[in-house]
Amino acid sequence: MNPNITAAAFAAAAALGACAMPLPEPELPTGRALFMENCAACHGADGRGGGPLAQGLPRPPADLTRLGAADKPFPAVHVMSYIDGYFRQDDPGQVMPEFSGIFTGPTLHVDTGDGMLTPTPQPLVALSEYLETLQEG
Ligand code: HEC
Repeated sequence: MNPNITAAAFAAAAALGACAMPLPEPELPTGRALFMENCAACHGADGRGGGPLAQGLPRPPADLTRLGAADKPFPAVHVMSYIDGYFRQDDPGQVMPEFSGIFTGPTLHVDTGDGMLTPTPQPLVALSEYLETLQEG
């Protein structure tokens, strides 16, 4: 047998074998990374609403460090629906973009408070959890 052909066949088989190996799970973006990339331009890196784009907007970006009240649980469902844009469709003056098309990915089941587990894209959950850490009560 021609040794060169054997070597080539062996290399091809090795390459195929490599392709068949399971790929590592892609790392999911953290809430902080998502925030810095998609939100900080308006809401500011600290979430207080003073991002570089804030000045030129017809409505001031919300202060995201004050979404909750000290005596109430963090309004995660409100926050996720707001980011998603779900209940803002009827507001023609809205400034903030809807992110429903961008934040897709694996879904997690989130308890929306009414005993229902709602499938929610992971980036929305990660963002909401990150915003919760910014709350100042
Ligand atoms: C183009 C600027 C802009 C970007 C980008 C932006 N926002 Fe906003 N956001 C606003 C403005 C302005 C408001 C105030 C209400 C409105 O839309 O008119 C707001 C309101 C909100 C509210 C509602 C707060 C409340 O009191 O209910 C939340 C939550 C929020 N933003 C989160 C985010 C998150 C998270 C991101 C990134 C995924 C983001 N925003 C990206 C401009 C922006």
